[in-house]
Amino acid sequence: MPIADAATLSELVTQAVFAADFRRATFAGKPRQGPTAWQRVVIRPVTIRGTRHLQFSYFDGRKDITHNHLPESAHRPLDVVVALGFAGVHLSTDREELDLRLTKKGKLLIGRKTVSDSGTVATEPHNRVKELPLPEGRADHLLAALGIADADGRIRPTMRAKFRQINEFLVHLRHGLDDARLLGHDRPIRILDAGSGSGYLTLAAHHYLNDILTVSAEVVGVDINAEVIRKSAERSHQLGAEGLSFACTPIANAQVEADVVLALHACDTATDAALAQAIRCGAKLILSVPCCHHHLNASIRPEGAASVLRPILRHGILKQRTADIVTDAFRALALRILGYRTDVIEFISPEHTARNLMIRAVAGATVGETAFVTEWQELRQFWNVEPYLERILGETLTRWLPNATSPTLAGTRDGECETQR
Ligand SMILES: C[S@@+](CC[C@H](N)C(=O)[O-])C[C@H]1O[C@@H](n2cnc3c(N)ncnc32)[C@H](O)[C@@H]1O
Repeated sequence: MPIADAATLSELVTQAVFAADFRRATFAGKPRQGPTAWQRVVIRPVTIRGTRHLQFSYFDGRKDITHNHLPESAHRPLDVVVALGFAGVHLSTDREELDLRLTKKGKLLIGRKTVSDSGTVATEPHNRVKELPLPEGRADHLLAALGIADADGRIRPTMRAKFRQINEFLVHLRHGLDDARLLGHDRPIRILDAGSGSGYLTLAAHHYLNDILTVSAEVVGVDINAEVIRKSAERSHQLGAEGLSFACTPIANAQVEADVVLALHACDTATDAALAQAIRCGAKLILSVPCCHHHLNASIRPEGAASVLRPILRHGILKQRTADIVTDAFRALALRILGYRTDVIEFISPEHTARNLMIRAVAGATVGETAFVTEWQELRQFWNVEPYLERILGETLTRWLPNATSPTLAGTRDGECETQR
């Protein structure tokens, strides 16, 4: 690191950490001075028996070690942390947010943002919920690196919908981790982002958990499109993100024993592939926002019991919407039968995306409950269809379904997508 930049970084960190309005400092990213025992160090003020201390938390990817220092004794440990040369340092005070990035060539990039009076930043990061996980106006290197924000932290107008989608998704992720009791373990949470596309959600989830919530998480994005995977891997490398990887592979072949499976707008049957993958690896939490639904649309007909729906199925758009609802109802029901507490919710207002339904499933319910198995049988019989999820889950699901038969249906390739999101 050039001396001038090292001195500037050290100065900025010292000023912030010893300021009366200091909130938090996070050191993460590839250490520029060679490997260290720590993946991340977080410093924040805490009050112990009525006296203000600075708490240093050191994370090595499996556990964290915490030391509390009186401010006057904290200079030496702070110098040691700065000397480790982490590539990224995020500093928060009541007045401003500073995002310091150290490039490979040792150049220091400084993002600085004044905290607005409305207080976009929580005073106690540990126990207060921020308005948005990645708020606008923060000097957050990630949103700029993704091209969602400009260098001043302003959201680009064309990226506002993606910005909202990601933030809302992260809110559900945070609550979901709580519900699924995935926090507080002595190993990183493993997350699969199925159909990661340009990697917005993948990178955002990794950053939010590791750098902001300081929850150790390993995140893998998979996609069949080699070009988006190449670009995502390049971005991840530029950001120096650790525990973040991308693989060009169909979701069904992803080699991840995931605790959490995310799927945002995985096209058509790619959503089924994501759900099946989550079930196979025993994921505790699934957050899936389906996209275009073609498979069932090709097979539902106004015949048999469903002939009463002829006035609906006659019209292409009504048939499509019916197929969407029926597909997601089957998906939610399959998850419930297989032991997930499952809800279908609007994860974001429709003005930000028309594809705004989220299937949210948390493991822990009784498997194979008769009432839900009966519902499946009746719904399936009514429509005379074989949902794609049933087909790919095979025995995992059909063992709970007495007398399951498989109608021959027109096939769909995983992930054909034509709809605007
Ligand atoms: C609409 S994009 C969504 C990308 C990203 N999740 C987002 O919301 O920005 C859907 C992605 O799923 C990928 N995909 C479709 N079928 C797939 C499959 N079977 N396995 C892996 N990726 C798939 C596509 O290549 C595409 O990049």
